[in-house]
Amino acid sequence: MITLQPISEENYEKVLKLRASEDLVSPNWHSLAEAYVSLKRAVDKNKMCSAYMPFAILCNEDVVGFAMLNFDDSNYFGSGDFFWLSRLMVDEKHQRKGYGTSAMKLIIDFVKSKPNGCGAKYLYTSYGSNNPEASSIEGTAKTYANLGFVKTGQMLGEEEVVRLELHK
Ligand SMILES: CC(C)(COP(=O)(O)OP(=O)(O)OC[C@H]1O[C@@H](n2cnc3c(N)ncnc32)[C@H](O)[C@@H]1OP(=O)(O)O)[C@@H](O)C(=O)NCCC(=O)NCCS
Repeated sequence: MITLQPISEENYEKVLKLRASEDLVSPNWHSLAEAYVSLKRAVDKNKMCSAYMPFAILCNEDVVGFAMLNFDDSNYFGSGDFFWLSRLMVDEKHQRKGYGTSAMKLIIDFVKSKPNGCGAKYLYTSYGSNNPEASSIEGTAKTYANLGFVKTGQMLGEEEVVRLELHK
């Protein structure tokens, strides 16, 4: 069974050992450092929703992936407040077993539940690579499209922006 676990003393070292193409996703050490920095910013601004929420993805007892998201009230994409999925990765050894899709369903339920009282119409994410030699984005694109994410036509650098409408 796939579950999400907030990053903790028990799981962070296992998360740091996970590997996926760095053409497609930042290494987990970088994401955890970003989460740490964002926490201070959120406390300073008294906006806890805006802090990154990093999660280990578990298959039964095994840590198999990592995801990170936050709430953003900057109207960055022109559609009001939104949730932003900044990372999703499943370790190379465990890809194509349905874990990424199952984890995403839990993430979607989580944001629909208005964590810390924060709600939004859309969950946004992006995928792609600045490296023309990069690994294929086919699996990433398919994972999001299967879940109902649609392209917005916007780009973040070389990355295609997609979003899911949460409350239809
Ligand atoms: C994207 C990612 C999280 C998907 O996780 P996963 O556990 O492998 O995905 P699933 O097994 O749930 O597969 C989801 C769909 O993608 C397809 N897929 C997955 N990997 C694929 C690949 N390499 N090539 C083609 N299709 C692929 C699956 O066949 C499935 O589609 P289907 O049900 O229509 O057959 C994982 O591939 C990954 O970590 N990629 C690198 C990092 C990345 O790109 N992250 C997202 C941007 S930050």
